[in-house]
Amino acid sequence: MKVLVIGSGGREHALAWKLSQSPRAQRIYLAPGNGGTAADRNLQNVDLQGSEALIAFARAEQIGMTVVGPEAPLAAGIVDDFRAAGLRVFGPTRAAAQLEWSKDYAKAFMARHAIPTAAYKTFTDAPAAHDYIDLRGAPIVIKADGLAAGKGVVVAQTTAEAHAAIDHMLGGGSLGAAGARVVIEDFLEGEEASFIVMCDGRHTLALATSQDHKRLLDDDRGPNTGGMGAYSPAPVVTPAIHARVMREIIDPTIAGLAAEGIAYTGFLYAGLMIGADGRPRTLEFNCRLGDPETQPILMRLKSDLLWLLDHAIDGTLDQVEAQWDRRPALGVVVAAQGYPEHPRKGDLISALPADSDDAVVFHAGTARDQQQLVTSGGRVLCVTALGENLRSARRRAYEAVAQVRFEGAQFRGDIGHRALPGAT
Ligand SMILES: Nc1ncnc2c1ncn2[C@@H]1O[C@H](COP(=O)(O)OP(=O)(O)O)[C@@H](O)[C@H]1O
Ligand SMILES: [Mg+2]
Repeated sequence: MKVLVIGSGGREHALAWKLSQSPRAQRIYLAPGNGGTAADRNLQNVDLQGSEALIAFARAEQIGMTVVGPEAPLAAGIVDDFRAAGLRVFGPTRAAAQLEWSKDYAKAFMARHAIPTAAYKTFTDAPAAHDYIDLRGAPIVIKADGLAAGKGVVVAQTTAEAHAAIDHMLGGGSLGAAGARVVIEDFLEGEEASFIVMCDGRHTLALATSQDHKRLLDDDRGPNTGGMGAYSPAPVVTPAIHARVMREIIDPTIAGLAAEGIAYTGFLYAGLMIGADGRPRTLEFNCRLGDPETQPILMRLKSDLLWLLDHAIDGTLDQVEAQWDRRPALGVVVAAQGYPEHPRKGDLISALPADSDDAVVFHAGTARDQQQLVTSGGRVLCVTALGENLRSARRRAYEAVAQVRFEGAQFRGDIGHRALPGAT
């Protein structure tokens, strides 16, 4: 079968890498892909975007399955378009993806279906939002309603910070339309984890658990980023908590959508806050895989991903089970100088470690310039390794990171610290 993966990040490189290992994979295309996928003999980049061009390509090449990586094309309705064209595609429709592209919709949905999440209110009017902040006090969380590429949330420690965030978002700040409506929600204490399932419209298959690191700097300091590293499994998600997440969050979400006429197909990602009492609450939904969580998760997947996705598209996920490597995996993001505010592009990547069975360099912001590999985005690489335990996965990943050479490369030195007490 020929497969098309839409996207250009580390998540899509990992998807394509894993799909290419399937005995049934004939050819894996990425649109548009990146410098790393361009260099991989098993993968092929195609420089196309937009539903119309991609559908024409999928028809001409007789693509048997399309997998959509990022949220933007999902929110634009690419799955609806592919389905209308009679093509097999894995991802949520635009209506289903609203769980991600409108935080207000997601919160109201959770309220309707009694899915645990922080108390909230939604505002378009600044004076009312300011009053609500004064009523609730700090810490408090301000969220732009729309897609904001990780820049739409302010966790305000003081009411002054919260008021400033309202002025910025509702005052027509840099978030534009995405920030013209804001959700204000109570601050939740606990430890975060990423919980991702595959859905076929009726059945769900949980992927291995994971945890990512949003802040730029060690010890969770510095600005929020798209994610500076991740590991799987997340020990905070004990078997008991796993069962609770399925029962209290995932199952009611799929059932609630179905009751409202939406069959959810695709990856569904619940960002969780797990309280000290072991109660999981939903911070947000994403309607896709996480990046960088996908990289360690897929390194641990022993089953054939093409086979799993085939069942997911056909609505028969109940007939399959995924096998996971018992070894943990850990990925370290290597970012460009100036990331996240002003990432510098065009730096020559002069050295990379060779991929091996237990360590793989997934590319994200890389491009081919003549015969050279150069940086082309904020998060450049995600160096991911397996190990007998998390500590050795981490050691292996950092050994490989040490062989990466480009000007201004920056990475955190403490990925995995929450699961490794006492480590630095
Ligand atoms: N209610 C909350 N309480 C505490 N922290 C929160 C809350 N909501 C969000 N956060 C923090 O802000 C981050 C981003 O929020 P999230 O809802 O995941 O939005 P996005 O990923 O779209 O930026 C979370 O990963 C979490 O660290
Ligand atoms: Mg998030």
